[in-house]
Amino acid sequence: MKINGQSYRTIWPDPDDNSRILIIDQRQLPHYFVIEPLTTLDGTVAAIRDMHVRGAGLIGATAGFGMHLAAIHSLPGKIEEALEHGAELLDKSRPTARNLKWAVERILRAAKNGKDDDEKKTLVFETACAIANEDAAFCKALGEHGVKIIEDLSKAKEGETVNILTHCNAGWLAFVDYGSATAPIYAARDAGIKVHVWVDETRPWNQGARLTAWELQQEGIPCTLITDNAGGHLMQQKMVDMVIVGTDRTTHTGDVANKIGTYLKALAAHDNNIPFYVALPSSTFDWELDHGSDIPIEERSGDEITTISGLTENGNIELIHLTAPDTRALNYGFDVTPARLISGLITERGIVAAEREAIHRLFPEKIIS
Ligand code: MRU
Repeated sequence: MKINGQSYRTIWPDPDDNSRILIIDQRQLPHYFVIEPLTTLDGTVAAIRDMHVRGAGLIGATAGFGMHLAAIHSLPGKIEEALEHGAELLDKSRPTARNLKWAVERILRAAKNGKDDDEKKTLVFETACAIANEDAAFCKALGEHGVKIIEDLSKAKEGETVNILTHCNAGWLAFVDYGSATAPIYAARDAGIKVHVWVDETRPWNQGARLTAWELQQEGIPCTLITDNAGGHLMQQKMVDMVIVGTDRTTHTGDVANKIGTYLKALAAHDNNIPFYVALPSSTFDWELDHGSDIPIEERSGDEITTISGLTENGNIELIHLTAPDTRALNYGFDVTPARLISGLITERGIVAAEREAIHRLFPEKIIS
């Protein structure tokens, strides 16, 4: 995707030195565009936990490169131990994101095929790069499938603007490129379809206000920021034609964990007969859990609710307090939308019903018997 006309991915190895993995520090967006190097496993774990990088796909790709950093700094003959240690730390850094575990397990399997330290290190690096490249390719493909839904809505509206509501940031900043929920929107724009996006601000971390609105603006897609509570009203007023969101983990039975508040949007969409789609690469499916209620839900510090950060007039990003001292706050990061409220899942292989048999038919090789 383009920033001020220049193409970027959200993570990439330094072309001159692959012991430096470069990321965009998302805590500083949209005010400052800062590229940060990751050079150690611990630094990578902190970057995921403290949300320098965030979003399911990008968390997975970053974990892959974190394993690479663990491998290159391992003691001679101790690479397996270093990778196991890395896997343990990374797994705990963001518990809901399925891509994280998926990436770490893929790296561990790849390393086993190397016969010595050097070969293992090469395999780990190549696999981390493959995870990142695949993430971008899958998002591009799901955009090509998802655009058909927008095209149909546009035809039904005789070419009038299609209004799409999205929650959180499931854009390219949440992946390596393109994004999941945004990929069909970019593809629609490229196909000359008129689109406009309602962007939920997404308290408490404001991924919508800070990231989605900014990335849509960079791409020249018309968008309007709304409060998290506005969506239901807009739906009743027929100002929303469809909802597309991303997901951090989707069970193979079609239940979807996504940013807290997604469930309420799905309920409102259902009540107003508005299609509610979830876009995801297959790396986000959990092939073991049968019930969304078993998905671990991350609980973050209440300080993220009682404070807010933003740009002050002197150009600094500063934190201010919103509440009385000692106000207790409960901060769940995600909620689960049951499959019955979902119109379809947009994947890299096509659009599928949020339902066990249909998902299994589309990904037969993933089925665990
Ligand atoms: O806490 P975050 O910002 O990592 O949460 C991100 C989301 O909830 C996205 O909607 C989700 O990752 C799906 S798109 C990758």
